[in-house]
Amino acid sequence: MLVRIKVDADKCQGHNRCYSLAPELFDVDDYGYATEIGDGEVPEGLEDKARLAAANCPEFAVLIEE
Ligand code: F3S
Repeated sequence: MLVRIKVDADKCQGHNRCYSLAPELFDVDDYGYATEIGDGEVPEGLEDKARLAAANCPEFAVLIEE
């Protein structure tokens, strides 16, 4: 099943946990704020990492769509 991630820029406070846990899925800017890579489509096999990143964001800024 196709999984997508999205970072809610209004909620992200730059904790960087998403990027630490799943650098394949997130980019961070110079201030530590994250964005999803590309259009947020999670490559096959990385779904668990996407969920882990979402679960570990203290701001609940990582959204998972599936
Ligand atoms: Fe932002 Fe949460 Fe990642 S606050 S940098 S989306 S861990």
